[in-house]
Amino acid sequence: MTDSIRILMCAPDHYDVDYVINPWMEGNIHKSARDRSVEQWNQLYHAIKERAIVELVEPQKGWPDMVFTANAGLVLGDNAIVSRFYHKERQGEEPYFKEWFANNGFNVFELPKDLPFEGAGDALFDREGRWLWAGYGFRSELDSHPYIAQWLDTEVLSLRLIDERFYHLDTCFCPLTGGYLLYYPPAFDAYSNRLIELRIPEEKRIIVEEPDAVKFACNAVNINHTIIMNQISESLKQRLNDVGFEVVQTPLSEFLKAGGAAKCLTLRVNEPVLEDVHASTPVESRTVQLTGHLLDAGIMNKALDMVVENGGSFKVLNFELGLERQSTSAAQVRVSAPDHNVMEEIMTQLIDLGAVALPQEVCDINTETVAKAGVAPDDFYVSTIYPTEVRVNCEWVKVQNQRMDAAIVVDPQNMTAECRLLRDLQKGDHVMVGVDGIRTVRQAEDRDQRNGKKEFTFMGSGVSSERRVELLVEQIAWEMRQVRDQGGKVVVTAGPVVIHTGGAQHLAKLIREGYVHALLGGNAIAVHDIEQAMMGTSLGVDMQRGIPVSGGHRHHLKVINAVRGCGNIAQAVEQGLITKGVMYECVKNNVPFALAGSIRDDGPLPDTEMDLIKAQSRYAELIQGTDMILMLSTMLHSIGVGNMTPAGVKMVCVDINPAVVTKLSDRGSVESVGIVTDVGLFLSLLVQQLDKLTHPYPVVST
Ligand code: ARG
Repeated sequence: MTDSIRILMCAPDHYDVDYVINPWMEGNIHKSARDRSVEQWNQLYHAIKERAIVELVEPQKGWPDMVFTANAGLVLGDNAIVSRFYHKERQGEEPYFKEWFANNGFNVFELPKDLPFEGAGDALFDREGRWLWAGYGFRSELDSHPYIAQWLDTEVLSLRLIDERFYHLDTCFCPLTGGYLLYYPPAFDAYSNRLIELRIPEEKRIIVEEPDAVKFACNAVNINHTIIMNQISESLKQRLNDVGFEVVQTPLSEFLKAGGAAKCLTLRVNEPVLEDVHASTPVESRTVQLTGHLLDAGIMNKALDMVVENGGSFKVLNFELGLERQSTSAAQVRVSAPDHNVMEEIMTQLIDLGAVALPQEVCDINTETVAKAGVAPDDFYVSTIYPTEVRVNCEWVKVQNQRMDAAIVVDPQNMTAECRLLRDLQKGDHVMVGVDGIRTVRQAEDRDQRNGKKEFTFMGSGVSSERRVELLVEQIAWEMRQVRDQGGKVVVTAGPVVIHTGGAQHLAKLIREGYVHALLGGNAIAVHDIEQAMMGTSLGVDMQRGIPVSGGHRHHLKVINAVRGCGNIAQAVEQGLITKGVMYECVKNNVPFALAGSIRDDGPLPDTEMDLIKAQSRYAELIQGTDMILMLSTMLHSIGVGNMTPAGVKMVCVDINPAVVTKLSDRGSVESVGIVTDVGLFLSLLVQQLDKLTHPYPVVST
């Protein structure tokens, strides 16, 4: 028969639920019945013994979880890697298991201290012997996988567990004879599910539903065509029968109370070694350097959390803490990721946080040449809003035209680099690829701003509603006044809601008084502004009385037609057709504007640029060198503007819809502020505040 299979078990002499180290144990302390657990264990023992050789390791008093021999270690051929338990509650089992492996002729491998790996509970061989599936996320550390690959000379595929109920890989994943896989997909992150699907063809995947999964259906002992497991649903049993498996059910309720079942109670100790299978682990590691106010500014937390959230793991290699308030800290962190794509994602985000991939002294520039105009090399680095520097001829060079979502083109001859949109790439351009030799420069003053050191600074990113609006408007007024007086630049991007809500007169006044240096919008803001100027309505609504006038919906078309008749907006102003309003003030005060067209435009006005590539360039041109941008109730144009604007530009986003505000003010920078309010009201408050600053004393009429 199948006497060649050998399985290690440990009698439940000292088994109990003594502590809580997984969710199943909660509420179950000392709730497992002694006799019943012994009886259940014996039934399992006999079921296995009929089909394989069972070896026993001596149970030890004080180590109640030792029954779960799956966690003793991981065996392949003559080699055994003994577990390093994550929880101190189980660490005392290690020497006993180690002794058993040594006494039974295995070469014993031990992982570095503090690198947890919980043996076959988190590592399962494909039953065709092709590779090893290894879990991480709760008990075992990703960094243990390269050791396993090397010591056992096998390919390791890392799977990330994300549901704490399924804290060990064997609680939700069971490779079966014939290349089948019994598993519960929601226990894994999306990337791991994809990996599983890539390796196991659909007809071999037996998906377990939650009711069976929580009964530990995946925690099964597979011996050739037999599966020994806790009780499962009739339908799952049928599905297993259909693909040729005999299902042996044996109740294990007492062990479920400790978070284990059939498979946990066993360890296969004679895994066959296949000749043609060899080590290969896609786990990649890199070291990054972080410098700055790592603790005060929360950068360290953010960086480490981000690594884990993206499916990586880390080890802080060293940390030099800056001792004075002003001194910076420095850290080197080794980051591991289950494969190259995850690593790139993590590295890109780390770079945004100011990290530099080591070694820093990269000299050959990391570029590839554009082969086809308008198409970047596959691995191109996608730029962000943060000031960026790249290595060119062994020196850091500042990237020009910083914006997000572009490629970085390097000119090694002239030692320059710039952000360039994909469509503008020329054949032969040198484009930065990968993540080496790229760093972003975080302003050190961030911390002072946070502490409110600067006299008038925004209150940090965040969305404000009514309570804080007045206070914020006061600050914005100060800021605008300062920018104007220092010859700086403020850009406004506005939607038609500005006009509908009665903001036109206020925005017009801001322009007239020199607070606005460029206006960006679409067709509609101009159309309705001119409609109001000429006919007193906005989209047919009488702006004085707030009610629709009859036939009003035709007004804006009449207006478009009239402007078309004049030639364009400026000509309409000159010819006296338009005598007030936002567009009028732009023309009169030489404030440049750009109107970007869209599919829903009526008309359009002759000034509206319907070629969107041209419109984007025009926007980008007008944004150059700006100090502050007011985004007034237009999601479309504001996002467009946000994409072109580098970090460091103050942004104020006003919208009645909190979702829009959150989306726009969430640039991870302290310079952006979101205000949820009616834009007409905002503009009226802003104008009042600016008036107060300009005329601090009320004018007394004589
Ligand atoms: N109480 C044990 C623990 O939390 C249960 C171990 C179950 N073993 C397993 N291979 N899933 O560690």
